[in-house]
Amino acid sequence: MLLYQKVDVGSEEIKVVGSNNMVKDTILTGITTTGTPHLGNYVGAIRPAIEASWRDDVRSFYFLADYHAIIKCQDPKLVAESTKEVAATWLALGLDTEKVVFYRQSDIPEITELMWILTCVTAKGLMNRAHAYKAAVGVNEDSGEKDLDKGITLGLFSYPVLMSADILMFNATKVPVGRDQVQHIEMARDIAGRFNHHYGQHFVLPEAVIEDNVAVLSGLDGRKMSKSYNNTIPLFVPEKKLRKLIMKIKTNSLEPGEPKDPDGCTLFQIYQAFANEAETESMRQRYLNGIGWGEMKQFLFEYLNDHLQEPRKTYDDLMKNSDYVEKVLCDGAETARGFSREFIQRIRESIGIVPLAD
Ligand code: TRP
Repeated sequence: MLLYQKVDVGSEEIKVVGSNNMVKDTILTGITTTGTPHLGNYVGAIRPAIEASWRDDVRSFYFLADYHAIIKCQDPKLVAESTKEVAATWLALGLDTEKVVFYRQSDIPEITELMWILTCVTAKGLMNRAHAYKAAVGVNEDSGEKDLDKGITLGLFSYPVLMSADILMFNATKVPVGRDQVQHIEMARDIAGRFNHHYGQHFVLPEAVIEDNVAVLSGLDGRKMSKSYNNTIPLFVPEKKLRKLIMKIKTNSLEPGEPKDPDGCTLFQIYQAFANEAETESMRQRYLNGIGWGEMKQFLFEYLNDHLQEPRKTYDDLMKNSDYVEKVLCDGAETARGFSREFIQRIRESIGIVPLAD
């Protein structure tokens, strides 16, 4: 059951969703459903988000950004499969859906409605400056293309407006994101500010929260683990495949017995992201004592496998049990809409979209 909490945003008080009076912040974050969650996603985003959701003084909204997915990925099977995989992953890792409102963006039609309303107060010049758009223009420039907008959809161009709608719809105060997304949060603040200035104080200005102390993992080839580099280790691959992938991780040519530098070593870094301090320290010693790469890989495999075994089993069960996952998402959407339905009415009224008679 959601209660509303009053938050002061300057001249007027506005309501944000809160579960109790202790709630200070509304945390909201979206996960784009274009791939299979990997170890890097887990360590950098999923684990911190699940841990943050346990706090009693926050209200959390986590959602599957499937309408963002179709900007980058126009393969319907992949979008559908990824949505299921991402949902099952978060649930398998212990996301408590009693505490967190967990939903699919596309189940909340008020978000796309709000997007249009926000589009009408968004300066086109602001969107011209968005990194994702500029990068796409840059690619055209570099290839000597005359039409700099070639292949660029309006979806990509206005991506930050959809993201603003996601955030402003629930009056989120804190938005945990990677550095590459900070500009989008600034744009959401800008758009919210313009709307508030013109139509009255309706939106909270969100703040980005950058998790600087979370690990960024390297992938199989030593570059940052990322699906765009095709160097990932998916979280819940079967045991055999996990072993195979770990064996593929790039190392240098030092022989067993030769001292090795743990810092900068992908195997060590992955181990460290899962191990406690004492374990990490003792592994550091083994590096200095010349642990062989084969031995380290086998050790890392066994260690990760131990950690992932339980949630992997839950994940496999959830992947076979779509009805359950679907129900969890629908329940989450119902909770979210308990707020968004009412809020969009207020926004419509503020812009003059009102019934002509009672
Ligand atoms: N664009 C974000 C990403 O690619 C995902 C996202 C969509 C998001 N909507 C959001 C993140 C709202 C935070 C808040 O990572």
